[in-house]
Amino acid sequence: MILILLGPPGAGKGTQAALVSKQAGVAHVATGDLFRENIRNQTELGIQAKAFVDKGALVPDELTVRMLLDRLDRPDTQKGVLLDGFPRTVEQARALDQALAKRGQTVDKVLYINVGEEEVVRRLAGRWTCRQCGAVYHQTFSPPKKPGVCDNCGGELYQRDDDKPETVRNRLGVYTRQTAPLIDYYKGQDKLLEVNGEKEADAVGKDLLEVAGLA
Ligand code: AP5
Repeated sequence: MILILLGPPGAGKGTQAALVSKQAGVAHVATGDLFRENIRNQTELGIQAKAFVDKGALVPDELTVRMLLDRLDRPDTQKGVLLDGFPRTVEQARALDQALAKRGQTVDKVLYINVGEEEVVRRLAGRWTCRQCGAVYHQTFSPPKKPGVCDNCGGELYQRDDDKPETVRNRLGVYTRQTAPLIDYYKGQDKLLEVNGEKEADAVGKDLLEVAGLA
């Protein structure tokens, strides 16, 4: 099964991905996490991607598509995959459709988490992420039990560089111009399933499982 989580920065894609991928029995693949891992490890891809990620711009399609297709070749994706943060442009969506067609596969469902701009800014300003396991917290909406420490693994929590207010505004502009057209792209393929992302996280998760037929 190939599922896509679509939505603006801060919509809650990372927050919901663990639940949805577990319920569907598929691997969770987040291109943002892959870029951050490459940047941390100072790989050649990471060095090229860093300038774009730091500004809140998209990494060029060519680099991103190559990285994603390499990731899809790993054995843990055999039962399927939940893509989080990919595709981000219509070009990426077309490249994905073509690559899947060669494997006799197709995107099954696109889960779109709809959240307005004001809420996104509030969420990203308070986000804390675990350096070790990637778990996501919010200082007000879902704080960790002990400040600065991950409940799951005891790892250190940090704030992402691209969550600075001016970078968030840039990421929102990029989303509107380059990613939002995917809503119509997948509506046209009759694959788009929309949920209201402005409810509490548990309620959004419940709605996602329901629309995806995974409840
Ligand atoms: P990426 O890491 O994908 O960032 P994003 O899409 O901007 O999404 P976020 O991770 O910021 O937000 P999210 O929706 O996962 O929200 P979260 O669950 O954390 O990409 C980063 C960069 O990498 C891009 O800018 C680009 O440069 C590059 N990149 C990645 N993919 C690319 C691609 N395909 N092509 C080109 N470049 C690419 O939640 C946010 C906060 O809200 C948290 O604090 C959370 O606790 C809280 N929260 C979540 N749900 C709720 C709720 N229901 N109520 C209250 N609070 C909530």
